[in-house]
Amino acid sequence: MFNLLTMEFCHFVVEEHSEKESFMTKHACLDIRWQRLWRTVALAAVIFACAISPRPLLAQSTASAMKIGIIGSGNIGGTVGELWVKAGHQVLFSSRNPEQLKPLVDKLGPLARAGTVKEALAFGDAMLIAVPYGAIPQIGRDYAADFAGKIVLDATNAVLNRDGEVAKEAREVGVGITSAKYLSGARIVRALNLMSFRRLASNANRAGERMAIPIGGDDPEALKVASRLVRDAGFDPVVVGSLERTKLFAQGGPLYGQEISAREMQERLKAFK
Ligand SMILES: NC(=O)c1ccc[n+]([C@@H]2O[C@H](COP(=O)([O-])OP(=O)(O)OC[C@H]3O[C@@H](n4cnc5c(N)ncnc54)[C@H](OP(=O)(O)O)[C@@H]3O)[C@@H](O)[C@H]2O)c1
Repeated sequence: MFNLLTMEFCHFVVEEHSEKESFMTKHACLDIRWQRLWRTVALAAVIFACAISPRPLLAQSTASAMKIGIIGSGNIGGTVGELWVKAGHQVLFSSRNPEQLKPLVDKLGPLARAGTVKEALAFGDAMLIAVPYGAIPQIGRDYAADFAGKIVLDATNAVLNRDGEVAKEAREVGVGITSAKYLSGARIVRALNLMSFRRLASNANRAGERMAIPIGGDDPEALKVASRLVRDAGFDPVVVGSLERTKLFAQGGPLYGQEISAREMQERLKAFK
């Protein structure tokens, strides 16, 4: 964290001394640099807050419960949504054929409901997206206005032999960056993509030290919300940094598939500062 701050500050100072632009340009640049500096400080504050934040001991009170919309209510969306319902959140599971979700929402009770993708986007204070990666560009296009300003936890993985061209792009530039490009306007946090839904379900709320879920994004407020939701699902969130840094826990990355505690994950992260 401190390396990140120091690097950002040095970058700021060095660039400052090499400036030879006009007065107006200089002030515009200064604004941008101050914004970058503040953003880094805010991100560092979120990382610190997540590290010291206690676990929830009780289910949510009605006042603090959130409304969550899920796009892609299959293996991973169904599993994580169920964990959130059990933690007291209201969840709208969506499908292109919502009637097919009746058995799931009947099983979960009054906090769960089924609807269309558009209804989920209107309902959710925060969203989880868990669709095959190949569907991301189309979903981004069809619901462009609905995604504006939305906090979206992105649990997708880009699989080359399943998801076509967009998976190639995501493997090259990073899944997080690619999701932010196609779900333009959304405040993306990569989260909960770490392992199979079965292993995720069996590790949720496990005894002893909880399992760490690495998360990352460029929006400090979205990271705060995502940290809380990861905690409520039964895990300890570990903020690894920006969307760019989420490559660390993408499929094939060094943190992918690791069933380790937050303490162990923080230790491993030291190698990737
Ligand atoms: N399976 C795992 O263990 C796991 C673990 C980590 C990450 N992931 C990642 O999570 C994502 C979902 O995997 P999954 O295994 O949960 O898949 P899944 O069981 O097939 O569920 C995906 C859901 O996405 C919905 N969907 C597909 N295309 C859509 C579109 N164009 N618009 C709206 N909804 C659409 C489908 O709902 P309808 O057909 O009902 O509309 C389907 O229920 C993938 O990116 C995967 O790589 C999976």
